[in-house]
Amino acid sequence: MGERISGILLTADEIKDIVHQLGAQISRDYAGKNLLLVSVLKGSVVFMADLMRAVTIPAAIDFMAVSSYGDGVKSSGTVKIIKDLDIDLAGFDVLVVEDILDSGVTLSYIIELLAPRNPKSIRLCTFLDKPERRAADIAADYVGAVIPDEFVVGYGLDYAERYRNLPYVGVLTIENGEWRMEN
Ligand code: IMP
Ligand code: MG
Repeated sequence: MGERISGILLTADEIKDIVHQLGAQISRDYAGKNLLLVSVLKGSVVFMADLMRAVTIPAAIDFMAVSSYGDGVKSSGTVKIIKDLDIDLAGFDVLVVEDILDSGVTLSYIIELLAPRNPKSIRLCTFLDKPERRAADIAADYVGAVIPDEFVVGYGLDYAERYRNLPYVGVLTIENGEWRMEN
């Protein structure tokens, strides 16, 4: 199967600006609150690492892992917990940090799972938002960049576990177009 990076959507410098703006906004909004950043592994790990350092107020962090995509690009439509949080959410103002909001199935599931654990508040921050593909009724409170309906990789985002370490966000063109037909 042929695949190639056919364009750069966000350069490393553009990403840096986006993350610093988000960090500043979150720091203002959560001043005096009890912020807990919850990173959804593995895709959001690069964004999380930068965002937490752009946040200038005290913040706790935790990680959870779910799977919805298997090794490819097509959604299986089901979400499975691979690793749950360690921290009890009671009393925390939780901000879920995701790499990309696509169909919204993954984040809806995560919110449904976390909301009953009595956090003081729960909101969403996504690095990328692909609103054209939304299937679930969900919107993020903080969005780094709205992007067109293309499959992107880099800055944590993968295709079959590859490309996560690219410092920029690139568009991946898959020659046989398989994921399009299935979505
Ligand atoms: P959703 O449940 O459809 O919103 O999917 C969210 C998850 O799908 C993300 O956390 C990513 O792991 C994956 N995903 C969706 N779109 C892309 C993409 O363009 N590139 C890489 N991963 C993607
Ligand atoms: Mg992900």
